[in-house]
Amino acid sequence: MASCSIEAELRDGTAVLLRPVQPDDKHLLSVGMEHLSPQSRYFRFFRPLPEIPPNLLRQFTEIDHVNHEAIGALDVSGADPVPVGVARYIRSPEEKAAAEVAVTVVDSHQGRGLGTLLLAAIAHAAVANGIDQLEAVVLSGNTKMLQVFRELAATMTRRAAGEVQVRLPLHPNASAYPQTPVGDVFRQTFARSGGAVKSVQSPQQRLRPE
Ligand SMILES: CC(C)(COP(=O)(O)OP(=O)(O)OC[C@H]1O[C@@H](n2cnc3c(N)ncnc32)[C@H](O)[C@@H]1OP(=O)(O)O)[C@@H](O)C(=O)NCCC(=O)NCCS
Repeated sequence: MASCSIEAELRDGTAVLLRPVQPDDKHLLSVGMEHLSPQSRYFRFFRPLPEIPPNLLRQFTEIDHVNHEAIGALDVSGADPVPVGVARYIRSPEEKAAAEVAVTVVDSHQGRGLGTLLLAAIAHAAVANGIDQLEAVVLSGNTKMLQVFRELAATMTRRAAGEVQVRLPLHPNASAYPQTPVGDVFRQTFARSGGAVKSVQSPQQRLRPE
């Protein structure tokens, strides 16, 4: 099930449009990458990556929207839309009801609530596609990302080499998320995305034949 588009305002009133990533979005992803600081790139990719190589661009944009979904954010406050963030999940091959999640926001737009909004939107898409747990490995210095997960009552386990393994249980009904500012963003975003996810199909039903 492909996600829907969401128009929203960031905490400072900036208008953004969230929509599923399409194959034509390769250029937008490359432009977004150009606006990521070296530290943000490191937090996202765990290595200094100068640009997204063509094979990764294909992998990031030519997706089935079921086992791999990505939602891009455009700043639509100016004359031309500007790519400012992306969230994606990729279903785990071993555990079909779990998926690896990653969120990226360009530095100029960080700290305004966009990362939380993108996480909520990708969580809603994940639940609709039969996923009940999002997982992420986060560097222990990435306090912003860890704070967002903490406010969602995710479990966190320290791993070797300064990494934290995060597990976030997902709920079809957003009222189950904690009563925190981040939990409130989940409730608002789930409501805008069509409310509680009523019929969650099993991962087996959702998986496409190979
Ligand atoms: C980590 C990252 C995605 C966070 O995105 P962001 O847009 O900066 O985050 P937000 O503004 O949504 O949240 C940041 C803070 O606002 C809080 N917040 C979010 N929505 C809120 C709201 N509506 N009201 C009050 N507080 C809110 C969060 O709890 C968090 O708390 P803090 O200020 O105490 O740290 C972003 O910094 C980033 O892209 N970093 C580089 C890549 C990366 O690290 N990716 C993660 C890999 S898994």
